[in-house]
Amino acid sequence: MPHHPPSHAGGASTFARSAPAAERNKTPIRTVLERVLPRQGVVLEIASGTGQHVVHFAAALPELVWQPSDPDPEARASIAAHAEATGLSNILAPIDLDASHPRWRVDRADAIICINMVHIAPWAAAEGLVAGAARVLPPGGVLFLYGPFRRHGYHTAPSNEAFDADLRRRDPQWGIRDLESVTRLAESHGLSLQEIVEMPANNCSVIYTLSASSSRHASG
Ligand SMILES: C[S@@+](CC[C@H](N)C(=O)[O-])C[C@H]1O[C@@H](n2cnc3c(N)ncnc32)[C@H](O)[C@@H]1O
Repeated sequence: MPHHPPSHAGGASTFARSAPAAERNKTPIRTVLERVLPRQGVVLEIASGTGQHVVHFAAALPELVWQPSDPDPEARASIAAHAEATGLSNILAPIDLDASHPRWRVDRADAIICINMVHIAPWAAAEGLVAGAARVLPPGGVLFLYGPFRRHGYHTAPSNEAFDADLRRRDPQWGIRDLESVTRLAESHGLSLQEIVEMPANNCSVIYTLSASSSRHASG
């Protein structure tokens, strides 16, 4: 699958960036989210990037409140510009959130989505993501991941293998992860695998839910 760096959008604001991959995958991802997310509540997006996804999802799922985040200030400026251009009232201001940090600026979210981050960040980001999900989600809360994954130690397509080699050249700490390793990590924090959805261009949507006994927000 081709991976182009984001370009500056000519429309709403000079800060609004646009990534062709996000334009292509937003509709297939939204179709899965419509099915797996709760009807109401706050959805925390980790690594929102340009902000194209969050505005698309917020328009399609207006009952949900969307909290975008990214550690990159330029990404946050782009997210804010896209959100402003849409005028949607169910998108909160983007927050500075590094998934690998042991404390997040969010105490609670009803669901968490994270698209195309775990392979473009050190493994510590995946570790922080699942640890954070276990801190902030309620019992049964969804952690949704999207991206390319290896399965049982193998790439699922030659294009993913080439992409993986390119990632590792750019940063030896990056690389396409084994889905089984991510799932073992998630399970160690009380998140159980519910579903793997095959997506276009050799990507997957992966849905985990937090067990009641692992949630800090269990009622009673
Ligand atoms: C390839 S982009 C994906 C952006 C967007 N989710 C998408 O699919 O278009 C990767 C994003 O991960 C963010 N990122 C990298 N390391 C991170 C970390 N430790 N915690 C949170 N976000 C991180 C980057 O700032 C960047 O916006």
